Amino acid sequence: MSVVQPKSSFTTRKWWKEAVVYQVYPASFKSGKSASKADGWGDICGIIEKVPYLRSLGVDVLWSSPIYTSPQVDMGYDIANYKSIDPRYGTLADVDLLIKTLGEHQMKLMMDLVVTHTSDQHDWFVESAKSKVSPRRDWYIWRPAQGLDGAGNPIPPNNWAQILGDSLSAWTWHERTQEFYLTLHTSEQVDLNWENPDVIAAVYDVMEFWLSRGVAGFRMDVINLISKEQSFPDAPIIDPSSKYQPGERFYTNGPRFHEYMHGIYDNVLSKYDTITVGETPYITDMEEIIRAVGSTARELNMAFNFDHMEIEDVKTKGESKWSLRDWKLTELKGIFSGWQKRMKEWDGWNAIFLECHDQARSVSRYTKDTDEFRGRAAKLLALLETTLGGTIYLYQGQEIGMRNFPLEWDPETDYKDIESVNFWKRSKQLHPAGSEELAKAKKLLQKKARDHARTPMQWCAAPNAGFTVPGVTPWMRVNDDFKTVNVESQMNFPCHEREELSVWQYWQHALEFRKLHKDAFVYGDFEDLDFENEGVYAYLRMDAEKKETWLVAMNWTDSTIEWALPPGIQVTHWVSSSLQTTAIELDQRVIKLRAFEGLVGCCNLV
Ligand code: GLC
Repeated sequence: MSVVQPKSSFTTRKWWKEAVVYQVYPASFKSGKSASKADGWGDICGIIEKVPYLRSLGVDVLWSSPIYTSPQVDMGYDIANYKSIDPRYGTLADVDLLIKTLGEHQMKLMMDLVVTHTSDQHDWFVESAKSKVSPRRDWYIWRPAQGLDGAGNPIPPNNWAQILGDSLSAWTWHERTQEFYLTLHTSEQVDLNWENPDVIAAVYDVMEFWLSRGVAGFRMDVINLISKEQSFPDAPIIDPSSKYQPGERFYTNGPRFHEYMHGIYDNVLSKYDTITVGETPYITDMEEIIRAVGSTARELNMAFNFDHMEIEDVKTKGESKWSLRDWKLTELKGIFSGWQKRMKEWDGWNAIFLECHDQARSVSRYTKDTDEFRGRAAKLLALLETTLGGTIYLYQGQEIGMRNFPLEWDPETDYKDIESVNFWKRSKQLHPAGSEELAKAKKLLQKKARDHARTPMQWCAAPNAGFTVPGVTPWMRVNDDFKTVNVESQMNFPCHEREELSVWQYWQHALEFRKLHKDAFVYGDFEDLDFENEGVYAYLRMDAEKKETWLVAMNWTDSTIEWALPPGIQVTHWVSSSLQTTAIELDQRVIKLRAFEGLVGCCNLV
């Protein structure tokens, strides 16, 4: 069966296609609490305070990572009640006020929908765990042990490893009822049993609860893991050093995934005008992706693709993220350009993102984050994002080019994420103190830990970077560079004196420019130029009627490159440089691109 649509609706206008979505990680965004109440955590009042700020940047939709009641084992991605707010973040009334305030600023709220699993503290699970005959037993995935091992411990139903657990079993033993339950991410995040229609009805109910409150849509957490292969087979051995193996092939886009997604769409989403984006890891099969995000799929508007996020991973040992390899610019180009072309061809839609709460900072991964290059490289990435077709996702702090925190930070105390903590624990079990291997593990943390995205937002040069009141210890350490890298200094950057825009000013400018020329940049065609070039990423963006053609040329290296305009391209005027002032002669066929400089030019094809 071909999934190519007979008539493409790629260029059909939709508000969510043109939207700029800004992701807030509530724990680290802004604390609105007074000195007497401050607890070092961000909250909803803090978000409300910053709505005008986000509007001035050019944001249309605010996506908040989970704010529901949660024991916070995985920072709110372990939900104990879908209909109440964690007291550290505020109340339902605060959410209502947030929705209202956003509305007053022509903005919308998108919630994180985490329904692949719940916390083990959720009432549903507490009841399920009461006994084997509990009416809610079948809401989760329970299985008997395979027997006992030599030491008398129960053997899990299969060899799947936890995703965030680094070599722990994906099954957690329940002593009282003598069965295992499935916990794919951590032992405290229990996978819901979507085979049970009551679970599905409960999910619809949660969605209705939020949509009827005025929420505009959902980012759906690991949504393509909801359907599991019901025979729960052993995974092949990829990492012989571990008892447990990555089992994602048995639960990614599983047998009933599309059926469940249609159910969500037909029963809930189709009644509203929503924005939906799926977090869909581990999937590369284009037909499968398009079945979920194609324009007639009746599933999701779009999905996050992780190819560029995994560019540094060594894949020979399975899906381990704790590895690093060098990559070439042409590989990265291949990923971005490939998705630009494929989505158009297959009539899907792209979600454009370089950062989120699960990834290290983009300026530290894809470019050079030294003091000399951080700012200009962050602007280069802004230029990339704002000139690619799709819906833009911007992560808090990206608009000021926040970078990874330094290697000196202590894995024992400064890293808080459960994934990092588990990785460090296992590294210490495997390697002696002072060993090269342990030093390597520390380096991997500094490059790849999720913690780098989770340090408090740097608002100004005041103590605690203005994230919370002075004298209070933030839940996570503030990056040492906050005195120079912060919102206040970048918003007030005197660009007329210095020639260059700050990263913040550049983002604002670039988002505005994109919206003015949305026919080309949001909906338009994409064509690579000089693809084999390992230093320059260049492409054309043009609207369907070919009224406007834009050339984007970016130098991804830390030295100046002289780049020859490909034949047939004539620039009529250069409209912007990520370094703002470059004297480019119009009749020049060879242009000078300074280190990490990007240019946009209006051109004719001759
Ligand atoms: C998603 C979230 C991540 C979380 C995981 C389990 O990947 O983005 O933060 O740890 O799901 O819910």
